[in-house]
Amino acid sequence: MSVAKPLPHDAARLHVTGAARYVDDIPAPANTLHLAFGLSQIAAGRITAIDLDPVRKAPGVLRVWEASDLPSDCDCSPSAHDEPMLAGHTIRYLGQPIFLVAATSHLAARKAASLAKIDYQSRDAILTVDEAMDADSRFGEPRIWQKGDAGEAIDTAPHVLEGEITMGGQEHFYLEGQAAMALPQEDGDMLVHSSTQHPTEIQHKVAHALHLPMHAVRVETRRMGGGFGGKESQGNALAIACAVVASATGRPAKMRYDRDDDFMITGKRHDFRIEYRVGHDDDGKLHGVEFLQLARCGWAQDLSHPVADRAMLHSDNAYALDHVRIESHRLKTNTQSATAYRGFGGPQGMLGIERVMDHVAHALGKDPLDVRRANYYGDFAEDKAQSTPYGQPVTDFVLNDLTETLKARSDYTERREAIADWNAQNPVLKRGIALTPVKFGISFTLTHLNQAGALVHVYQDGSIAMNHGGTEMGQGLFQKVAQVAASEFGVDMDVVKITATDTAKVPNTSATAASSGSDLNGMAVKAACEAIRDRMAEHLARIHQDEPADVVFRDGEVHVGGNRLPFAEAAKACYEGRVSLSATGFYKTPKLSWDMIKGQGRPFFYFAYGASCSEVVIDTLTGEYRILRADILHDCGASLNPALDKGQIEGGYVQGAGWLTTEELVWDDHGRLRTHAPSTYKIPACSDRPEVFNVSLWDGRNREETIYRSKAVGEPPFMHGISVLMALSDAVSACGEAYPALDAPATPEAVLKAVRRVRGVL
Ligand code: MTE
Ligand code: MOS
Repeated sequence: MSVAKPLPHDAARLHVTGAARYVDDIPAPANTLHLAFGLSQIAAGRITAIDLDPVRKAPGVLRVWEASDLPSDCDCSPSAHDEPMLAGHTIRYLGQPIFLVAATSHLAARKAASLAKIDYQSRDAILTVDEAMDADSRFGEPRIWQKGDAGEAIDTAPHVLEGEITMGGQEHFYLEGQAAMALPQEDGDMLVHSSTQHPTEIQHKVAHALHLPMHAVRVETRRMGGGFGGKESQGNALAIACAVVASATGRPAKMRYDRDDDFMITGKRHDFRIEYRVGHDDDGKLHGVEFLQLARCGWAQDLSHPVADRAMLHSDNAYALDHVRIESHRLKTNTQSATAYRGFGGPQGMLGIERVMDHVAHALGKDPLDVRRANYYGDFAEDKAQSTPYGQPVTDFVLNDLTETLKARSDYTERREAIADWNAQNPVLKRGIALTPVKFGISFTLTHLNQAGALVHVYQDGSIAMNHGGTEMGQGLFQKVAQVAASEFGVDMDVVKITATDTAKVPNTSATAASSGSDLNGMAVKAACEAIRDRMAEHLARIHQDEPADVVFRDGEVHVGGNRLPFAEAAKACYEGRVSLSATGFYKTPKLSWDMIKGQGRPFFYFAYGASCSEVVIDTLTGEYRILRADILHDCGASLNPALDKGQIEGGYVQGAGWLTTEELVWDDHGRLRTHAPSTYKIPACSDRPEVFNVSLWDGRNREETIYRSKAVGEPPFMHGISVLMALSDAVSACGEAYPALDAPATPEAVLKAVRRVRGVL
């Protein structure tokens, strides 16, 4: 059976040889137009005069569009219809597209776009959390969820602690930037190639922009060179722009953002400030906790509400909290519209409670792992299960055992002692270690998104074409789902063709997001395969005087009535017997119910778990640091593909560590993003990987009936990066008595400041 085998990514060879085809590699017809946006140079205010003649007269330019030239508002928003593709007179952030240029080459379009003469009248921009709070600038009312009486529990606890942590945003830095191409078809129809996690959304937005029914727009996505949440909604503008130009000119149109433009235009992870007040006892057990979560959402709503909800939903992480109050503000600022990014707010919420654990342990002089363990959920079955702050019983908690195993395997206790000795003898270099858990809820919190469709064909030669609504962004979804199809028919992997996602084959899909790709699409494909297999079994049983239930599909053969037919022969027999060899499949996640306003119900089908232990060394003279060793134990249920899952865990950890250490977004006082290229925005390089990196999978089946009892793995490992920040905090705390209160990103400068603070020299 193909499922559970550690097969390489289906396109691995194509990726490393450069042969994998991305949107920009699709051969474009000779008369293709290339597009670029002209961007605002102020963060907030009005356009008082605009002269685009120099743009129009530039070499190679065919036509220029302002907002008023468009066929509609060309809204790009995935939610609130608040994102016109081009700003009219009002400017909401620095980098906002104002006009669109179509030219004969990418370079000609970009050069021309820089020639506009625009006069602005600026007003004071709202850039920071504090400015937004002062101005009462927000999306919706603050959301408050509570369980028990946090205020009372804190006030009556033996110890009370207050603090705050700020955490930066994060640029997705997909290696393939945003890209789209539109090809006009007959009778006004449009074919769009888009680097998107959400082809149906692209179809919907293009149809809306051009006043077409959805059936007139077909969107195809073969793969993305990384999405990480940044291609859930941020590709809409490019696809709409291409479609508008293609429709107006009858010529194909293509657009890709230059990397700097991508930084300036598109949304990033939400940065947060989380303020906390906790009451705890001498063991570090929390009696009550209050969180105030302030999320900077940027100029448009985008996915900010569900992101901020997920931050609230992860403010308990692995800890049973009896008395808790979470208040969440979604702040509107004159910056890029923050969007989905791996973990979707979960990492921010989780970092809040992890900081609390670290802070409480420091106050008590305890090992932070002991404080964490004192607060873990118990592994209780259904009737005794403890509930999350939002009322979902935690019935599948594996972290008690998993943590003990990781603690032993990583020699945590011995190394912690050795590090303390080492630090006592070394005044300049200091080491730190931390072991932190992850519990991550799996399902879209907007319940209706938890559905998927599939289309499977068996051809008369026995080859199989498989299609589903999920998209491939490097995570290995296509390979996993192909493994499901191969297993259902008992055939080799090379019998199954992996095809591009196509809105004409499978309609009404959800974004490939929330880590649910393999859960949803694996099940939908399985359903389609079962439908065909049942028809084949029935027909073959009839011919071979057997019971349909006794027909077995295994090792490339069909066992029926004492015969063993090669699968191809069986397919041919079914075709000749006029049996339909094509089927759709559908799946919807069971057991979900959720009231997002009250914060009550079961938003998640199940939880994915894991823990990581990181050791770092810091240089107290420069603030520089390295990750020396990481040990990760992660729960993928019964893994569909252990090789791909390990890849997700390693990549997630490194990306999470990048978020909390070197990746720093800096906006100046005018709202201009100053870190808009790899020269100033530092993602982890290969050389930043831990020198020792031990990753293993927790052996266990999902207790819920997921596809082959596996668990989603796309986002949860991202939060293992939190152990790096906590290890840095541990190293800094070796420098003195005070609590390091390290914010994120803990750049070398921030670590140096914290060292000086703890040493009392700042
Ligand atoms: N892995 C790679 N290589 N590239 C990506 O863009 N995106 C992540 C994660 N892992 C991503 C990735 C995000 S944000 C999500 S939600 C999941 O993959 C989506 O895929 P899945 O649902 O199939 O896990
Ligand atoms: Mo992932 S942030 O859900 O695309």
